[in-house]
Amino acid sequence: MKKFTCVQDIGDLKIALDEAFEIKKDRFKYVELGRNKTLLMIFFNSSLRTRLSTQKAATNLGMNVIVLDINQGAWKLETERGVIMDGDKPEHILEAIPVMGCYCDIIGVRAFAQFENREFDYQETIINQFIKYSGRPVFSMEAATRHPLQSFADLITIEEYKKTPRPKVVLTWAPHPKALPQAVPNSFAEWMNATDYDFVIAHPKGYELDPQFVGDAKVEYDQMKAFEGADFIYAKNWAAYSGHNYGKILSADREWTVSERQMAVTNNAYFMHCLPVRRNMIVTDEVIESPQSIVIPEAANREISATVVLKRLLEDLK
Ligand code: CP
Repeated sequence: MKKFTCVQDIGDLKIALDEAFEIKKDRFKYVELGRNKTLLMIFFNSSLRTRLSTQKAATNLGMNVIVLDINQGAWKLETERGVIMDGDKPEHILEAIPVMGCYCDIIGVRAFAQFENREFDYQETIINQFIKYSGRPVFSMEAATRHPLQSFADLITIEEYKKTPRPKVVLTWAPHPKALPQAVPNSFAEWMNATDYDFVIAHPKGYELDPQFVGDAKVEYDQMKAFEGADFIYAKNWAAYSGHNYGKILSADREWTVSERQMAVTNNAYFMHCLPVRRNMIVTDEVIESPQSIVIPEAANREISATVVLKRLLEDLK
């Protein structure tokens, strides 16, 4: 594997899942693979799980790790070409990226949507510049439109907990006080559409995701109807995608907060969320603390998805 930014990069999901479960049995099996190899993790945005789990994954594989928080101690980077750099950004990303590539073998990048320009975000301008100019294999630690390490961990978790070969999985929008990117729901939809699960997306009108991610999923505007008979509830907030509303909050309707009321009509569904989660906005205390909540094992699987991805990138290093 030369890069990892979307579901297509991982190839056959059955093979990827087998690899994940093999690594879960013995996470140090490939500890020699990364000897004398260096992972550089670049963060344009904050992180808890991605940072820790990816660093742990690299350690599982025997790699050295360098972490750089761009906003804490690095030069502020200009990301657009053609700008007269007379402002507060002393370095251009087009020099910074190849320099970063000199010090490592693999680069992980976290760069969220900025919500200033939908085209800039949806063209994945930042991570694509790393792919183009670093000279190194690049993987996404959440980019503007996708969060594939999270989605892979979500898939591993569903496979571990499902009680039927073809579970009903519902991705539901839930309220949040700040505008959040569509990366997690886009990516989750992309990965669920690559399985044969019964996949439903529920959200209020106006929160339609980019059709390229919705694919053949069923879209429901009635949350209770969507939850009926569900085996997994995956909650997430996102801001509007469409047209002039891009990046805006259109609803704060707390009727959409996942509570025991909605969970009661499911097939005793498991509750999932990528975390961090705002309690009693996205989900009530009762639901997230219930035995059906699998948010912690889901987060734990981030180490497994990252180990598989790094292993594959290491195997393909020249
Ligand atoms: N789920 C996730 O990516 O968590 P962090 O933002 O804390 O890395």
